[in-house]
Amino acid sequence: MFVIGSGGKHLEGELRELGGEIIEVELRKFPDGEKYVRVLGSGNEATVVSSTFAPQDEKIVELLLIGDALREKGFKKLRAVVPYFAYSRQDRVTKEGEPVSVRAIMKALGIYYDELYIFDLHNPETLKYFPGKGVNVSPARVIADYFREKLGDGIVLAPDKGARERARAVAQEFGLEYSHFEKRRISPTEVEMRPVDIDVKGKNVLIVDDIISTGGTMVKAAQILRKLGAGKIFVGVTHGVFAEGAIERVSGAVDELAVTNTIPTPVSKISIVPEILRL
Ligand code: R5P
Repeated sequence: MFVIGSGGKHLEGELRELGGEIIEVELRKFPDGEKYVRVLGSGNEATVVSSTFAPQDEKIVELLLIGDALREKGFKKLRAVVPYFAYSRQDRVTKEGEPVSVRAIMKALGIYYDELYIFDLHNPETLKYFPGKGVNVSPARVIADYFREKLGDGIVLAPDKGARERARAVAQEFGLEYSHFEKRRISPTEVEMRPVDIDVKGKNVLIVDDIISTGGTMVKAAQILRKLGAGKIFVGVTHGVFAEGAIERVSGAVDELAVTNTIPTPVSKISIVPEILRL
C-alpha cells in the first residue's frame, strides 16, 4: 500500500490507474508554515512515495513526519521511494567544516524507514549511509522503451566517464553500442572532447546522464556530435533539475529532450511509475 507525499502527487494518478493501492493522508501547512500530516488508513506495511525536488527541505521533513505517523499507527515495515534524492550531490567534504549532506538526510530517514529506494542516485556508494536496505533503481528500461523506435540502430553515449555505466545499462536494453566522451588536452590552450572508441558519423545518438542542471554538459556534447556528423541527437536523462533557461538551451541544441518524471517538468515524458510498481 502506498502513501503519497507532496513530492509524489504528480505520480499518484498513474499509480492508481496501474492498480497501486493508496492509503489516504492529509497534508497541509499550519499558518506559520510548519507541516501537518495525518495518515487516514491503517495496516502493517507501507511504501511512502515522495520525490525531494524544490522546496527540498519541506519534502524531507514531511517524509520524517509521515514515517513517525505510520509508526505511531503501528505499521511494522516502512519503505521510502524517493525518486529524486535531494542533497545527493553533496557527498563529500570539500572545505573543512562542511557536512556530508547526503549522509545527514539518509541517517535521518533511517530512523523511520527500513528500506530506501532512489532512482539513479548521483553516487550510489552513498547508500552505505542509510542504516537499512538501500537500493539504487535504474531507469534504463523506461528510458530505452521511450527512445527505442526513434533511435533505431544508433548508439548510446555518456557525457563523461563517470556516466559510462548509465550508457551501458541503457544500451544493453537495446542491444546497441555505447561509449563515453573523453576530454583530451591537445595543447596548453586547447581541449578536444570526443566520444572514445566509436564513430558517430551518420548515426543517431542518445546521450544519457543522471542530471541536467544548467544544460551546459548536454549542449557541449550535442555541438561536438553535430561537428562529427552524427544523425539525430536525443537526450534521455533521469532527473530534470533544470536551472532557469536550461530546457530551452538543451532543446535548441538537440532533436529531442526527454527526462523521467522523478521531478515534474514540461519535458518529463518518461514515467517511472511502472518501475515503482515493480519494486
Ligand atoms: C555531473 O556529475 C552530473 O552527472 C551531470 O553531468 C551534471 O550535473 C550536469 O550539469 P549541467 O547540466 O549543469 O552541465
